[in-house]
Formats: sequence, C-alpha cells, structure tokens
Amino acid sequence: MSVKQHEPVAICRGVDVPESDKYGFTILRQGKQSEAFLIRFKGVVYGYLNQCVHMPKTLDCEDGNIFDETGQYLQCSMHKICYDPQSGACVSELCSGKKLTALKVKEAGDWVYWLDKRAISGIDRLLTMNPSQG
Ligand code: FES
Repeated sequence: MSVKQHEPVAICRGVDVPESDKYGFTILRQGKQSEAFLIRFKGVVYGYLNQCVHMPKTLDCEDGNIFDETGQYLQCSMHKICYDPQSGACVSELCSGKKLTALKVKEAGDWVYWLDKRAISGIDRLLTMNPSQG
C-alpha cells in the first residue's frame, strides 16, 4: 500500500491495541523492512519501532512479550533492559540515556493513525499489519 508522506495512515482499530499489550506491524524504512508496534498504556496508545537500543534485536525476540511482568515497563526479552512506555526512554542502567524510536500516532474515533511519517526519514510506505499479533 503506497501512502503520501503527509497523510495520516490508519494502522488498526483502537480495540486491536489492548491495555498493556502490543499490536505489531511492519514498515518499509529506507528500503528495508522494519518491525514496529503500538501499545496501550494507561489508556493511551503509543507507537515505536521494534528495535532495542542495546543490540539490533526486536524487544519481543525471545518470548513474544513486550511488557515486563509488572506491566509498568516495556522490556527487551534478550537482556531484560526496560523502557518507559510513555517516552520510550531506557530506564535500565545498561543503555541509560537512550530511547526507542517513537512513531507519532494518535487514536481518533475507532482508529489509530500514524501521523507524521516524515519524523523518521526514509519511511515510504506501510507494508503489513498483523492484527493477530498479541
Ligand atoms: S538486545 Fe535488547 S537488551 Fe540486549
């Protein structure tokens, strides 16, 4: 699906992003596929590239989970560093000061939209969306 750079893109329905869970999808970024996800935390939807700041791994590479056992932090399943769900900032000593790459998303009505694809250079289209990923 080809999209224009300034048009909001409907990613999924809001109900597809449960509280403290993820909705994964794939984008084309600088000619390569990149994984991304939406989460809902305290009722608000946030979006990030699914790339750990420690190593080139997705956060859910080991066990499919994106939140830690408390449900209060995003956590990479490889070496367990944690991130603030609202800012993407790493809250673990390892990689302190680094952040997940945020996607500008907004829930409006029944849908979640991706608002500003220009914030990440080179993204030119949304490739796939996987509502079954949980
Ligand atoms: S690869 Fe994510 S914490 Fe090490």
